[in-house]
Amino acid sequence: MFELIDQLEKNQILSKEELSHLLNHYDSEMSQYLFAKARAVSQKYYGNTVFRRGLIEFTNYCKNDCYYCGIRASNRQAVRYRLSKEEILSCCDTGYNLGFRTFVLQGGEDLHYSDEEICSIILSIKEKFPECAVTLSIGEKSYESYKKYFESGADRYLLRHETSNPDHYNKLHPTNLTISKRKKCLEDLKNIGYQVGTGFMVGSPYQRTEDIVEDLLFIKEFSPAMIGVGPFIPHHQTPFAKEMAGTLELTLFVIGLLRLMNPNALIPATTALGTIDPNGRELGILSGANVVMPNLSPVTVRKNYELYDNKICTGDEAAECKVCLDSRMNRIGYEIVVDRGDFVEI
Ligand code: 5AD
Ligand code: FES
Repeated sequence: MFELIDQLEKNQILSKEELSHLLNHYDSEMSQYLFAKARAVSQKYYGNTVFRRGLIEFTNYCKNDCYYCGIRASNRQAVRYRLSKEEILSCCDTGYNLGFRTFVLQGGEDLHYSDEEICSIILSIKEKFPECAVTLSIGEKSYESYKKYFESGADRYLLRHETSNPDHYNKLHPTNLTISKRKKCLEDLKNIGYQVGTGFMVGSPYQRTEDIVEDLLFIKEFSPAMIGVGPFIPHHQTPFAKEMAGTLELTLFVIGLLRLMNPNALIPATTALGTIDPNGRELGILSGANVVMPNLSPVTVRKNYELYDNKICTGDEAAECKVCLDSRMNRIGYEIVVDRGDFVEI
């Protein structure tokens, strides 16, 4: 088993059987062995630095109905909101003054926004903060739309594939969403020139070890700049309300494997990881992650962007999270830097 981790470290490809074996039989000793190697790889490319992205959740309206997500269209109890361009710029302003150099505009698939409106938001941010990177995370769009956003200055795009197994995909989403459409979007984004992020939830309902193996191999093959994985956490107003959450141990193990398989990728220690364990984000960094994504949304709307239950930091101002995360990272020997944190090709 330890040899399999050594092989991954040397950038050798493992078979599906070998990856399954690791995922089915890892224990805490092997996890520690993996994490030490994953940290070393991360430090080789990025040193003891952690990059910070400011998440601006600008709309929680969504036309989709993903079974796992708290802001799905059918959740009539969700309190819906949209931030105006001025409010978004004010979040960026707060973030800039706190040392953020990447802003992530995330939202549900909200039909209210025309491409022109999205472009105008991007243009305004880029005009005011020319040295900052803008990341979009607004779901599936046409090639033409993606291209317009890119030409307006968007640098990066996050779109998790969620699972590469079509049957599993259909168990997580209604039939209007398909993995083939999702993959087409990811290809389009890459061809246009974005730094692309993908990823999946660990422990989502019906996920089997073989599915995680396929996800690891899909990610390796697609070779994204960013890889977001976090535990699935049930939301009480969704069809998956009674399902079990993904575990801390498996999520960390997956992060470690992803780091060895994608040495220079940008991998966040996600908010979901910080939600299932009070030290989740620190443990994520110590397992090979190198990014944190604190929230810059106004505190007044934060509770409404509830993808899953008990999300952390919904009552904390951006400045409080900055201080908190700086000290959390310092305590484990890492430093959050004032930097766009672009992907470094090797
Ligand atoms: N638990 C964990 N992660 C979730 N996401 C959506 N709903 C949940 C949930 N209940 C993740 C999805 C999506 C990202 C924005 O948030 O993977 O791509
Ligand atoms: Fe928000 Fe700790 S990061 S309070």
